[in-house]
Amino acid sequence: MNLILLGAPGAGKGTQAEQISEREGIPAISTGQILRNAMRSGSELGLTAKQYVESGALVPDDIVIGIIREYLESDECRHGFVLDGFPRTIAQAEALKRLGIKIDAVLTIEVPDEKIVGRMSGRRFCECGASYHTDYLPPKVEGICDRCGKELYIRDDDKPETVLSRLETYHRQTEPLIGYYRGEGLLITVEGQERVEDTTELVRQALMNGTENKQ
Ligand code: AP5
Repeated sequence: MNLILLGAPGAGKGTQAEQISEREGIPAISTGQILRNAMRSGSELGLTAKQYVESGALVPDDIVIGIIREYLESDECRHGFVLDGFPRTIAQAEALKRLGIKIDAVLTIEVPDEKIVGRMSGRRFCECGASYHTDYLPPKVEGICDRCGKELYIRDDDKPETVLSRLETYHRQTEPLIGYYRGEGLLITVEGQERVEDTTELVRQALMNGTENKQ
């Protein structure tokens, strides 16, 4: 299955991408996580990305398109993938189309803006890509990743003022992709629920029903 996840910052894309990845045995590719790892390593890519990510803006299309092309053409993605955070602009969607890789479905998780800021304040992250929430999805040991045992951290771009800027960027630059993929007949919509496991179940059913739910 070749799947794209859409949704506002904090809608739960990363959380669901991880679960789909485990269930289906396909890699979850998060452009946000790739950029954060680059920022933490201090690489050239990281230094370039930092100024955009920390202000809530998007990293230029050519940079992320280059990153994603490398992943999608690698052996790891031979049997499918979940894209979390790409594409984020119409130009990125067009570039993906030009790669000639068939997309099976585009799943958008809808969560109202009012709920997003609260979710972000409790979010904790790990370098390995796992994400937690102090209330909704706590790790077994506080501050430590269940999966790899590393220390969890708070993202610099989860400050309330940056979250508002990211939401504005989402509505202006990424939301148009909903209409774009509806036009392609690939869109599946799921309403994000209060509890992670309820959203997971809706996502599982929506993907199982597949084409019937596509709009
Ligand atoms: P990215 O990492 O993709 O951030 P985002 O899209 O803003 O999404 P988030 O990771 O913040 O949220 P999410 O939807 O994954 O939610 P999560 O599952 O964590 O990108 C970061 C930055 O990188 C961008 O701002 C941009 O600068 C740059 N970038 C990335 N891709 C790019 C691209 N293609 N082009 C250009 N620039 C790019 O959930 C949020 C929290 O809520 C968690 O704590 C989770 O545990 C909790 N939670 C999840 N589901 C539920 C639920 N149902 N109920 C309660 N809590 C829940």
